[in-house]
Amino acid sequence: MTPSALSASQHPSSSSLPRLPPNVIRLPATSQLEACLTIIRDKQTSRSDFIFYSDRIIRLLVEEGLNHLPVVGKQVQCPTGLPYNGVEFQGRICGVSILRAGEAMEAGLRECCRSVRIGKILIQRDEETAKPKLFYSKLPRDIADRWVLLLDPMLATGGSVIKAIEVLVDHGVPLERIIFVNLVASPEGIENVTKRFPAVRLICGWIDDGLTEQNLIWPGLGDFGDRYFGA
Ligand code: URA
Repeated sequence: MTPSALSASQHPSSSSLPRLPPNVIRLPATSQLEACLTIIRDKQTSRSDFIFYSDRIIRLLVEEGLNHLPVVGKQVQCPTGLPYNGVEFQGRICGVSILRAGEAMEAGLRECCRSVRIGKILIQRDEETAKPKLFYSKLPRDIADRWVLLLDPMLATGGSVIKAIEVLVDHGVPLERIIFVNLVASPEGIENVTKRFPAVRLICGWIDDGLTEQNLIWPGLGDFGDRYFGA
C-alpha cells in the first residue's frame, strides 16, 4: 500500500475508493461527514466549533465501532401485543483512550454506552531512543474479558497505537477484540498498524494523503489535542 494508492483528497465516491486491508473500515464519505471535517480542518474555526463538530464525527465513529460487537437474538413483546424478534448486545466492552487526545472521544463513547468502563494509556516519545514509550496505564482489571474500543483521534505514524495495542495484549486482550477508532488516518499509519496487527480492526473517519516531515497528517487538521483542549 503506497500513500498515493490511498489518496482520498478528491472526495471519491464509495465506488472509487482505493482498496483497504480487510480490517480497515472507513466511514461512508457522506456530505455531512465531509462538512464536519471541513470545519475542523479550517484553521479559523473557533475552539467551541472544533469541539462541537469533532464530537459529531466521534459519535458516528463510536456507533460504527459498536456495530462490530457481537449480538444475539432476543424476542420482546411490543405494545401492539405482537412479538418482535430482535437482537441484544452480547459481551462486555470498555474504552481505552490514548492520552491526551484520546480523552476527547470518551464522552462520545459514554453517550452510546452509559456506564462504560474507561482505561487510559499514556505513551510518549523516549528522548533517548526516539521510540514510543509507555509512561502510564490504568486499565479495567477484567479487560481481558472485554471488547476494547481503543480511542485516538489521529493515526499518524502508528507508533503510539502500536505500543498501546502491545500493552492491551500484555493484559490478555485478544487482538480480534480490539477496535481502534480514529477520526483522520494517514496511509502510512494504516500500513504500519495493519502489518503489525492484521487482526485488529480500524475504524477511520477519513484517510488523508500522507505525513509531513514533522509526522503531522497531511493535509490533516493540526494538533488535535491542542485544538480540542486548548494548547
Ligand atoms: N497528532 C495530531 O494531533 N495531529 C497530527 O496531524 C498527527 C498526530
